Amino acid sequence: MDKKIDTRRSWPKGYEPKEDDTGEELSDRLGLLETILKAKPEKKASTDIFKVMATRRSTRKFSKNPVEKWKIDKILAAADTAPTAGNFQGFEIFYISDKETKEKLVKASNNQPYVNTPLVLVFCMNPSRVKLDFSPKVIMKFSIQDATLAAAYSQLAASALGLSSIWIGMFDEEKVKEIIGTELRPTSILCIGYPIKKRPAKLRRQLKELIHVVGKKD
Ligand SMILES: Cc1cc2nc3c(=O)[nH]c(=O)nc-3n(C[C@H](O)[C@H](O)[C@H](O)COP(=O)(O)O)c2cc1C
Repeated sequence: MDKKIDTRRSWPKGYEPKEDDTGEELSDRLGLLETILKAKPEKKASTDIFKVMATRRSTRKFSKNPVEKWKIDKILAAADTAPTAGNFQGFEIFYISDKETKEKLVKASNNQPYVNTPLVLVFCMNPSRVKLDFSPKVIMKFSIQDATLAAAYSQLAASALGLSSIWIGMFDEEKVKEIIGTELRPTSILCIGYPIKKRPAKLRRQLKELIHVVGKKD
């Protein structure tokens, strides 16, 4: 891989991933993913994806402990691995770097206090990136799915790293847009941190109620 810094792909102001273990500067997604793959054992996450899925539980009570930078890197990189329609990545992530903005987001989210967590990410649709020859309705549908999948990947990555999260869907879209300074439609706010108490996963309905078999049995 070319290690030269490509400024066109540099990280945004306010979020710069730290240098990797070899002291090389990270300039792009590949650099970030490569670092994750090369990470020392203590910087690895739980790799059993089924265990991560089965034990993930939302939290609304977080400790004040900050999320380590290397974990934030992984959570962001995870979003960037999600599939997207036509690989056009029809979404954007807004990384909230200050307390004041988080407090504003609490208010815009029906005063849900847990929106003020150590790591807050706002996932937005960006349909203009989806360069496919389909109707605007289809493009919007793709874009909302792109943003949602990316957030889901980040949420699972957070769980794999021993963190917990709460997915916020209840917010005033217009207020959130104004707070983060975008015209893009927000789809979810992902609030991540260490849970005060680890709790077991919630029950779901029976699989036989969930799965609907279509067609004749072969
Ligand atoms: C689309 C969506 C919207 C949600 N919105 C909120 C929300 O605004 N506030 C909140 O406290 N939890 C919200 N949640 C979290 C759910 O309440 C939670 O995931 C659900 O109760 C299942 O619990 P679990 O995540 O621990 O399995 C949302 C989850 C999803 C997927």
